[in-house]
Amino acid sequence: MSQPEQAEPASVQALSARAAQSPESGIVEVANYSRERQGVIPLWAGEGDLPTPAFICDVASRALADGQTFYTDQRGIPPLRQALAEYTGWLYGRPFPAERFFVTGSGMQAIQIAVNLCADPGDEIVYHSPAWPNLPAACGIAGVSAVPVAMDFTAAGWALDIERLFAAVTPRTRAIFINSPSNPTGWMMPQADMDAVLAFCRARGIWIIADEIYARFAFANVRTGAHGRPLAPSFHDFITPEDRVLFVNTFSKNWAMTGWRLGWIEAPETIGVKIENLVQYSTSGVPAFLQSAAETALRQGDAFAEQVIGDARRGREIISAGLAQSGRCRFAPPDGAFYAFFAIDGEPDTDRLGLRLVDEAGIGMAPGRAFGEHGAGYMRLCFVRRPQGLQDAMRRLNAWLAR
Ligand SMILES: Cc1ncc(COP(=O)(O)O)c(C=O)c1O
Repeated sequence: MSQPEQAEPASVQALSARAAQSPESGIVEVANYSRERQGVIPLWAGEGDLPTPAFICDVASRALADGQTFYTDQRGIPPLRQALAEYTGWLYGRPFPAERFFVTGSGMQAIQIAVNLCADPGDEIVYHSPAWPNLPAACGIAGVSAVPVAMDFTAAGWALDIERLFAAVTPRTRAIFINSPSNPTGWMMPQADMDAVLAFCRARGIWIIADEIYARFAFANVRTGAHGRPLAPSFHDFITPEDRVLFVNTFSKNWAMTGWRLGWIEAPETIGVKIENLVQYSTSGVPAFLQSAAETALRQGDAFAEQVIGDARRGREIISAGLAQSGRCRFAPPDGAFYAFFAIDGEPDTDRLGLRLVDEAGIGMAPGRAFGEHGAGYMRLCFVRRPQGLQDAMRRLNAWLAR
């Protein structure tokens, strides 16, 4: 018998439609379910098992003890903006002025500001899907309609038909959001497609929001960055200073700083005062003592970032071998980022599967529908971990599949 529907409490009924309709994260559901159980290998979140290294933490502690406790620059402290410019120049082999960089309280806030910079309520932002759910959710909260464009799962991995992307653009479209390498699919946009997207957006006068936070987690179809190591193709390769490209970025992944909530936006200098205003009217700035530590991450954190990237590279090999073993997983090794987004034959209901794998196999993974309707039927696992945990997870999964 179906349960009678519970009336919403009056306080909930009194909320704005945008707050009331903000979706629950499907990733958080598995995380909460798993935390109540002992010994589950946590592969649901977009983070690894390394804490932030001491040489970064120590700077924050010292800065706090030294009295960096006051209101601070809305755009970010000048030494950090300078370090961001130098870091970006080091990766892409061309100079970028510090005035293009704006410090935010996370990559998530960078996305939220980017959405508000380029779109008004009723406008549209086109994005490729499956996607990290926070982008469409941030659009919804801003009253902006997020328009998904389906990607295809092929034998070679996830693919995006850019003609389909362009066909989704209407007169109401204010931006195209490109997340490459992608969470959750690991897809990486080829350089030629980036060039085409930029030309398309220039011709229509619309923005690109470029989420390249996984740029250094590039494993196949990569080029060598100016820093001498693998790097994903980037809009940095094509843009002029006034191109309408908003890069959103974060300290979370390269330097294991997910809990710090620190990110940045790179944008044309000419809109600097508007970004400053949006920071002013949200967080009013990022704590100065955190910014000092972030500068250290950029200037001295390369060896550590390479260690994290190395974990992901080895993790990709372990899970590629592990997922191939049973013959039941539909999967292609991802080009970039640190996620496998795969299907299991005979298990189409991955919402339930996510919870069953917690109980029956002791592995926590995010169900694909958490990444939009185009993710239904898939699971996402995060492989940026030291080998032991991933090997155990693959053993558990294969034992469960063989049961
Ligand atoms: C594609 C993508 N963009 C942005 C972010 C934001 O990162 P954070 O809010 O931790 O800085 C994430 C985090 O997982 C992500 O996967």
